[in-house]
Amino acid sequence: MKIVFLGPPGAGKGTQAEKIVARLGIPQISTGEILRRAIREKTQTGLEAQSYIEKGALVPDDVVVRIVRERLAEEDCRGGYLLDGFPRTLPQAEALATFEKIDAVVNLMVPQELLIHRLSGRRVCAACGYTTHVDRGEEKCPKCAQNLTQRKDDAPESVKNRLVVYEEQTKPLVDYYAGQGLLKNVDGAGELEDVTKAILAALGCN
Ligand code: AP5
Repeated sequence: MKIVFLGPPGAGKGTQAEKIVARLGIPQISTGEILRRAIREKTQTGLEAQSYIEKGALVPDDVVVRIVRERLAEEDCRGGYLLDGFPRTLPQAEALATFEKIDAVVNLMVPQELLIHRLSGRRVCAACGYTTHVDRGEEKCPKCAQNLTQRKDDAPESVKNRLVVYEEQTKPLVDYYAGQGLLKNVDGAGELEDVTKAILAALGCN
């Protein structure tokens, strides 16, 4: 199955994507993760993307479309994949439609106060990418015992900007995909396990 996850920053796309791909046996393609890795590795793409990401702006469409197109051409994507964080502009969605046929688009819906709470308390392991929240009281990464840190784009100014960018540039995709009969709205505000169950049900996979 070829799935797109839509939703504002902090909706839980990354957290839920991990569970869904484990269940369906397909790869998770997170453009945010690919770009953050490129920044850590100081590649040309990373150098180009860094200033956009840190201030909470979108990386230019042509850069992201190229990354996704190359990634989806790899062998492990033949049997399906889950796109987490792409597309997030109309031009990206239109470009995707020229080379792929998506089966379902899951739209995770979460109220803004909860998004801000999730993003301001999110902590990540710089070594393995494990993501958690200060509410869970974890002091070190439970997977590799490294320190947990805050993403630069989770600073308050950057979060504010990301939410505006979502409203202006990404939200129009909800109507775009609804118009194609692909949209599955899912309440993302509940407990982790309940949201996972709701997504699987929406995909007809329970
Ligand atoms: P990206 O990494 O995609 O960030 P995002 O879309 O802003 O999404 P987030 O990672 O912030 O949130 P999420 O929905 O994955 O939530 P999470 O599961 O972590 O992109 C980063 C940047 O890269 C962009 O701003 C842009 O610059 C660039 N970029 C990426 N793709 C691009 C594209 N296509 N075009 C252009 N630029 C692009 O959860 C958040 C927190 O909540 C965590 O702490 C988690 O533990 C907690 N949580 C989640 N679910 C629950 C729950 N049910 N209950 C309690 N806590 C929960």
